[in-house]
Amino acid sequence: MRILSIESSCDETAAAVVEDGRRVLSSIVASQVEEHKLYGGVVPEIASRRHCEAINGVVREALVQAGVGLDGIDAIAVTYAPGLIGALLVGVNFAKGLSMAAGLPLVPVHHLRSHIASNYIAHQELEPPFLCLVVSGGHSHIVEVTDYTKMKVIGKTRDDAAGEAFDKAARTMGMPYPGGIHLDKLAESGDPDSFKLPHPKVDGSPYDFSFSGLKTAVINLIHNAAQKGGELPKADLCASFRKAVVDSLSDNFIRAAEDMGYKKLVLAGGVSANSLLRRRISEECEKRGWSCYYPPVSLCGDNGAMVGAQGYYEYLSGNISGMELNARATMSIE
Ligand code: KG4
Ligand code: ZN
Repeated sequence: MRILSIESSCDETAAAVVEDGRRVLSSIVASQVEEHKLYGGVVPEIASRRHCEAINGVVREALVQAGVGLDGIDAIAVTYAPGLIGALLVGVNFAKGLSMAAGLPLVPVHHLRSHIASNYIAHQELEPPFLCLVVSGGHSHIVEVTDYTKMKVIGKTRDDAAGEAFDKAARTMGMPYPGGIHLDKLAESGDPDSFKLPHPKVDGSPYDFSFSGLKTAVINLIHNAAQKGGELPKADLCASFRKAVVDSLSDNFIRAAEDMGYKKLVLAGGVSANSLLRRRISEECEKRGWSCYYPPVSLCGDNGAMVGAQGYYEYLSGNISGMELNARATMSIE
């Protein structure tokens, strides 16, 4: 079964053609990041306008590169939640129009579910059940994936998402948006033990995260040094900050797996590209004889292929929408 999939939840306009949820025939991503960089973050109004301009060409190119016309497509999958509402609406309305015109079933896909599904493309043998750490610019969740379309959130952030914390710390250090990747690169050459930063825990909720205190601690360190006319060793600060975030993610994730008896652990979302997080979870799993999966960096960020992968399993479970489908800015992964 071939699915044409569309993603427009944030600042990437993306489309792909995916066969049977696992084989990517084409994947096109048009990023708006260069424009948002000017403002230090995503400007929702600009994002919606750029999606409008890009979507026709991106979807057409996905079909051309896959070597199929709409007559070779069996369903259309689209990200409908969560995300920037104006951005989501562009993809959803385009998909609705195409579905009606071509007489194809319309499959709504949850953005975080699709991040998890990027692993089905990268690891053909991977099947639920497993425990997944979904970490992106907007979310940090520990999710029990009991089946392709059955999930339960057992831990989440109480304030900032991990990606948001990375981006804000990086921005304060003068790095361009989105700063997570730059902070990660610079951290490789720094000493992670040079700054003592808070390792926040949420009382009574051992699997929940909190990153805002850590973020504020780093911002205060930088501002205090600047007020005294000094500058902190940036690589060391990056390394210390990255370690504090990864310690928190890893401690809770591994503890949850131990408590719940999961031996198959999966990472997903933009922050799963973080080199220390990948190394740490791999090591922790290896020590215990567990298996560990994460997507290649090319599939960690937002893309259309992951929507096609999850769309296939949503379709099989009967999750098909009519023309009443609407975009939603927030929605639980469950
Ligand atoms: O999943 P994603 O592409 O978009 C959302 O759904 O939010 O995640 C984007 C987030 C950004 O905050 C970005 O800085 C972060 O993922 N990110 C990283 C790295 N690469 C991307 N954070 C830390 N280390 C990285 N290597
Ligand atoms: Zn995302």
